[in-house]
Amino acid sequence: MDRAHHEGQAQEEGLSRDFAHPGAAADNAGVTFSIPTRLQLGSVRVDTPVVLAPMAGITNAAYRRLCAEQGAGLYVCEMITSRGLVEGDAVTRSMLVFDELETVRSVQLYGTDPGYVGKAAEILCAEYGVAHIDLNFGCPVPKVTRKGGGGALPWKRGLLAEILESAVRAAAPYDVPVTMKTRKGIDADHLTFLDAGRIAQESGAAAIALHGRTVEQAYSGEADWDAIGELVASVDIPVLGNGDIWEAADAIRMVEQTGVAGVVVGRGCLGRPWLFRDLAAAFAGETAKTLPNLGEVRDMMRRHAELLAANMGEERGCKEFRKHVSWYLKGFRAGGPLRHSLALVDSLAALDRLLAELDPDEPFPVTELGAPRGRQGSPRKRVVLPEGWLDDTDGAGFAIREEASETSGG
Ligand SMILES: Cc1cc2nc3c(=O)[nH]c(=O)nc-3n(C[C@H](O)[C@H](O)[C@H](O)COP(=O)(O)O)c2cc1C
Repeated sequence: MDRAHHEGQAQEEGLSRDFAHPGAAADNAGVTFSIPTRLQLGSVRVDTPVVLAPMAGITNAAYRRLCAEQGAGLYVCEMITSRGLVEGDAVTRSMLVFDELETVRSVQLYGTDPGYVGKAAEILCAEYGVAHIDLNFGCPVPKVTRKGGGGALPWKRGLLAEILESAVRAAAPYDVPVTMKTRKGIDADHLTFLDAGRIAQESGAAAIALHGRTVEQAYSGEADWDAIGELVASVDIPVLGNGDIWEAADAIRMVEQTGVAGVVVGRGCLGRPWLFRDLAAAFAGETAKTLPNLGEVRDMMRRHAELLAANMGEERGCKEFRKHVSWYLKGFRAGGPLRHSLALVDSLAALDRLLAELDPDEPFPVTELGAPRGRQGSPRKRVVLPEGWLDDTDGAGFAIREEASETSGG
């Protein structure tokens, strides 16, 4: 693809925004891409080129609303399994909850069987009024890759094409765009992202999102933004860049270095839904860094728990909220016993009593800015794959048994 014709047209010299990373131009041999103001995914227009990454156990209706209240963008539902949806699995169906204000319903599907994926896409469009479907080809969890799913699947180029084509065909009558999200490959010796980009484009996918890590890396090390730039240069469909966006300035830097059409943000917004406010401002050309004091963070925590409780019932909502406590309080002085009690909270009244103990005037811990949060860990010793998986790169017509209730995510 001719880079100059990409929406992010190359500017030969200088940085386009004052908050750009000083190394941006050098990193891409003197090319700095300009900043898109919106993202077009087939029929869906997203007013800020920012996507909330699907995160299993996190990006439910409550969290999507909380983030959407802060900024603009596309907010993707937790991953759901195709077979679970097709067979009417209760847990799967219960995950398909949308907020009344959620006008663009976006869902990530997991699947390894073109038949199930196609039927699931049809159900999402016809019964749930979904406006965007993303397919998960990046999950590194061993119980998923062991069966050839998630990040292992793109190795089978033919099967990948069949799955994508099946979803695109099912969604087309509803004018619903299908995108795929993937990783660089299985490991450094078995890269798949460039073939995946070509296959996505040939299959009619509206975009491809790339997390710049291999399955073997899981969440360790640093995301490879050069690979993202390489993918941008090799396809004509929009590429969404993913990995290690901790601040709005990182998102701008990624766009400038790689020419992506938009960014996908995951761990950076854990315990920080206001990152979407900063991202919206940054893509509108403004510099914003929201630094809430502990009182404002406390209000956000309360709102999050309240939304979870409204969707799931108070007890379950409060239990779901527990996992977010340490992310919200990261870097604040709040003591161990209070954190411990918050992580065991089982009612909104108890939450209120505990939150009242926080010092509302404590300023935001700026040392946390730009620092990784959420999962990191170490690389996998080996990627667990089905027997003989790497021997053949096609896999068309290959039937992989799908689980009805896989909820591991990415
Ligand atoms: C708790 C958690 C759950 C995740 N679940 C999914 C998932 O269901 N589907 C998916 O494609 N990626 C999933 N991911 C991966 C993220 O979408 C994203 O690709 C990854 O975190 C890298 O982006 P980041 O550096 O912005 O976090 C998950 C990540 C985390 C931390």
